Amino acid sequence: MHTKIAPSLLAADFLNLGKDITMLNENADLIHLDIMDGILVPNISFGFSVVDALAPMASIPTDAHLMIVHPENYFERFASKGVSMLSFHLEAALMQNSDPSELLSRIKALGISAGLAFNPDIPLESCFPYLKDADFILVMSVFAGFGGQKFIPETISRVKALKSEIERQGLSCAIEVDGGVNQENAPLLVEAGAGILVAGSSVFKSSDPGATIKALRG
Ligand code: DX5
Ligand code: ZN
Repeated sequence: MHTKIAPSLLAADFLNLGKDITMLNENADLIHLDIMDGILVPNISFGFSVVDALAPMASIPTDAHLMIVHPENYFERFASKGVSMLSFHLEAALMQNSDPSELLSRIKALGISAGLAFNPDIPLESCFPYLKDADFILVMSVFAGFGGQKFIPETISRVKALKSEIERQGLSCAIEVDGGVNQENAPLLVEAGAGILVAGSSVFKSSDPGATIKALRG
C-alpha cells in the first residue's frame, strides 16, 4: 500500500481556499482538517462554516482531527459532512471518563473510519488496549495546537514500537503521523511503519506544493 499524504488545511491560504482545494484534489490523498476548541488545546482553528464550504468541492476524502473536549457531541455532524476519517484525542476521553473503545465504536457505527490521537507526552502503551477498536492511530509528532512546529525525533521510535505492537496483536490498523512532517523525516516515518503522513507547512509553504506532496509520498 502506498503512503497516503494528508495535507493539513491549517497551513492553507484562507483567502484563497478554493485554489488550495483544487491543488489538493489533483495531488493529495486526503485533506486533513484540524478542529481545535481552545480548551483541549491552546488554540482555536476553524469550524463548520469552513467544513461546509469545502465539503462539496473536495473530490478526495477528508480526515477530521478533533482536538476538542467532548468530541462525541460532533461525531454525527462530521459524518454528515462526508468526512471519511475521524479522530479524537485519548486525552479528551480520559479527562471526561469516557471509554475510548466506546467512542471509537460510535464513530464506526456512522460508517466511517475511526482514529485515536495522542500527544507526544502520552506513554505509547496507553493506546495499546484500544488498538483493536481503532481503524487508525494518529501519533502526534508535535504537541497538538499549532502548525509549523518542529518535528520531535523520538516519534520515529514510537511509530516503530506501535507498529510492532499492532503486529503482535495481529491487527491491521493504520498509523498516521501529524506535526512537522517534511521530506527529511517522511522516509524514516514510512520505514518505521507510518502509512499516512499529515503535512501542513512543508506542503503549503513550499514553492511547488504539488511536487512536495509527490516527494513526501516517496
Ligand atoms: C497540530 C495539527 C497538525 C498541524 C500540522 O495541532 O494537528 O495537523 O496542522 O502542521 P505542520 O505540518 O505545519 O506541523
Ligand atoms: Zn492534525
